[in-house]
Amino acid sequence: MSNPKNVDDLIAGNHDFWQQAAGVHGTTTEDRYYQLDRVIAGGTLMTPIEESVIARATQAPLDNALSKVAGLDILYLQSHIGVDGVVLARAGAHVTCADFSSVALERALHLASNVGVSIDTVETDARDLPESLHGRFDIVYVTIGAICWIDDLALWMRQVSLALRPGGKLVMFEIHPLYQMFNKRVPELIVDFPYGNGGLFTESGSGSYADPSSDITSTTTNFAHSIANVTNSAIAAGLRIDQLDEYVEIAFDPRGDDLLQQGEDGLWRLLLGRGPNPEDAPEGLPVAFTVIATKV
Ligand SMILES: C[S@@+](CC[C@H](N)C(=O)[O-])C[C@H]1O[C@@H](n2cnc3c(N)ncnc32)[C@H](O)[C@@H]1O
Repeated sequence: MSNPKNVDDLIAGNHDFWQQAAGVHGTTTEDRYYQLDRVIAGGTLMTPIEESVIARATQAPLDNALSKVAGLDILYLQSHIGVDGVVLARAGAHVTCADFSSVALERALHLASNVGVSIDTVETDARDLPESLHGRFDIVYVTIGAICWIDDLALWMRQVSLALRPGGKLVMFEIHPLYQMFNKRVPELIVDFPYGNGGLFTESGSGSYADPSSDITSTTTNFAHSIANVTNSAIAAGLRIDQLDEYVEIAFDPRGDDLLQQGEDGLWRLLLGRGPNPEDAPEGLPVAFTVIATKV
């Protein structure tokens, strides 16, 4: 699903944003997302969804989700500043963080050294992984906010497949494409993002999702991928879908805007589903999905 023209320019705009964002994320008290002190103190920023998808993929108990990753070779694709990567490394995995942002990888190495673990890093476009990464991994781990930066999901999925050993697994947690379509709720509900097939969404602005007040200015382009695009790309790349799950609640608000509402249980939901009154909607629309797929 590649887009016809200027895609390199669009990706260059995205790269510029990520170089800036990687330098800022986790460095200020305003950061609503990357609380690195918690990780350095021995904690994790993984939510129950990441932990449960890792547990299911590795056949670990849910209450000790990382207990089976020790000794596994894990490629954390589009790792950003490497937070989950160092947590996996602390659990005994051999982790390689891959990202096209050199700043993000420097930050990942710095975090690893603060945590006292060792990780490898590879600066690469996720759509063109170097041969040195091919056939080497038990798990390719991908988390929230990765595939919206990829114009050609089929090509990206082929890289995932190339990186895996036979029997290795893609373990993926992502924003649901339906949630991504919504822009805002107030004063009126706006839907302005395509549902799939690589549709484009370009925006200019300042700040980032983690630190809206930061001194970042950017023009970025996202690409829409439906659930069918994800599963069909995986199948075409030689992966067998083992499990696909959709979630109507999430432990944090990924965007920090007015779309999700936090319940008394602390979980966040997109309550637009039934009738005019959110309180009449016991469940919301899907906000996240996970995929476990095996290279056959
Ligand atoms: C939202 S972040 C991923 C967040 C990560 N899951 C986390 O929790 O920190 C997206 C990452 O994708 C990377 N990225 C975007 N487009 C890429 C590409 N074409 N190739 C490699 N990395 C890319 C960015 O540099 C950024 O670090």
